[in-house]
Amino acid sequence: MEQQDNANGSLDGGGGGGGGGGGAGEVVTPAAVRDGIAFLRRRLCGTPPGAANLHCSSPLLPEQDRNFRHLQQLMAESVEHGYNNSVLLLGPRGCGKSMILEQVLAHLELQFKDRVSPVRLNGLLHADDRCALKEIAKQLCMDHHLVFSKTASFDENLKFLITMLKECALSHKTVIFVLDEFDLFAQRAKQRLLYNLLDAMQSNLTQAAVVGLSCRLDADQLLEKRVRSRFSNRKLLFLPLSFEDVFLLLHHVLMLPVDGSFMHGAYARYFNENTVKFLKQENMVELIRQFTALDLSPRRVVDLVFRALCNLDRAQGVLSFANFKAASNSLQRQPKLEALQNASVLELYLLVSMKRLEGKEQETNFNAIYKEYEHLQEAHRTSDHYSRQVSLRAFEHLLERELIVFYDGRGRGNTSEFRAVELLISNHELQEGLKSNSVCPVTLQQWFLHEAFK
Ligand SMILES: Nc1ncnc2c1ncn2[C@@H]1O[C@H](COP(=O)(O)OP(=O)(O)OP(=O)(O)O)[C@@H](O)[C@H]1O
Ligand SMILES: [Mg+2]
Repeated sequence: MEQQDNANGSLDGGGGGGGGGGGAGEVVTPAAVRDGIAFLRRRLCGTPPGAANLHCSSPLLPEQDRNFRHLQQLMAESVEHGYNNSVLLLGPRGCGKSMILEQVLAHLELQFKDRVSPVRLNGLLHADDRCALKEIAKQLCMDHHLVFSKTASFDENLKFLITMLKECALSHKTVIFVLDEFDLFAQRAKQRLLYNLLDAMQSNLTQAAVVGLSCRLDADQLLEKRVRSRFSNRKLLFLPLSFEDVFLLLHHVLMLPVDGSFMHGAYARYFNENTVKFLKQENMVELIRQFTALDLSPRRVVDLVFRALCNLDRAQGVLSFANFKAASNSLQRQPKLEALQNASVLELYLLVSMKRLEGKEQETNFNAIYKEYEHLQEAHRTSDHYSRQVSLRAFEHLLERELIVFYDGRGRGNTSEFRAVELLISNHELQEGLKSNSVCPVTLQQWFLHEAFK
């Protein structure tokens, strides 16, 4: 559908080599914006595997590039010289292991046409060795236009695999086994699949490679001795990004091509200039710092960019800080804060009373909390005075919303007024919640800030 959009985009006639001198009004046309967004989305969604889609992918980061070259060289050796290699790609989730592997496979497809036959398995999907071997047989049959037998046993499939490996070697074709979630294959009893694959690769009559991907850095330690001795012990590590790399990635994924491959050249230049400028803004740097504080994986950064792109104002045609702010808010949902935003005044009073009791290291059951609440009411004579019965209802509502919980961890009973409870929100969350709740009285915020927690 996006390709169709692209084809229609030629209506506005913006040539690839157009100059960047035009004003924003001239270069920001609906077709240019639509094609720009479509191009970036395609790139951000992770281009589908295959050589035909290589042009869409953005440049790799330095560390990724090193791993790409290393893997490319290993696999090329396997195809060109018939070496039987095995390698593990290890790194945390979302750091680009699958992306690099798919790019390597796509390059091999270009470089050695029809001499590579990838077989893809996933430890999550192929839950036991029997079903994994069946999947291997199925994929090999599909690739070589053979009829697949659904009823074949494990031994028959194994025999077929070994015969196929020999046949492929005779026709100088390398079978590349991709084992995603490799650690799950290694945790199976006897590691039959891994053993049989690696054992078959010991013979010089076969031509194959095994690439394992795992987010467990100790995945190789899970291998049995007989399997490890057949494994070549090569590992490529994928590390989380540095903060500078995050910005490099943002630049890479957000640049529209200006080499003529994108038809609206003038718009691409205008868009890129604006992106470079706003990525330097201080508030943008701070937003990215906060967003990546816990997780610096490229996948998370790419998710943020994708959402920001969805928020782009098509009339302006360029990204802005507001787009990223909205994207970051929608990705970083804070359920506790949202619950506090919608809490009633009485619920807020009870929470603050409870926080004060915790600060004084006193017991926190409903009776004590209500006493503290009454004490505050008497001292300051506010209009927010509620009866004990109503307060008990509000207290139960807080339990339901899991802002507080019984200390002993048991369910609710008739004696809930006497059982100790604990807060499930931090000081900071409560403070933010009070600030963001539209009905929270100023006095309550002041009690919270000044009396209990110094
Ligand atoms: N240089 C880059 N340019 C564009 N996108 C990138 C880049 N590096 C990483 N990404 C994006 O980051 C994501 C990485 O996801 P990928 O599936 O490769 O991670 P993974 O390491 O295999 O994770 P998992 O362990 O969960 O399988 C992809 O969506 C990819 O498009
Ligand atoms: Mg992956």
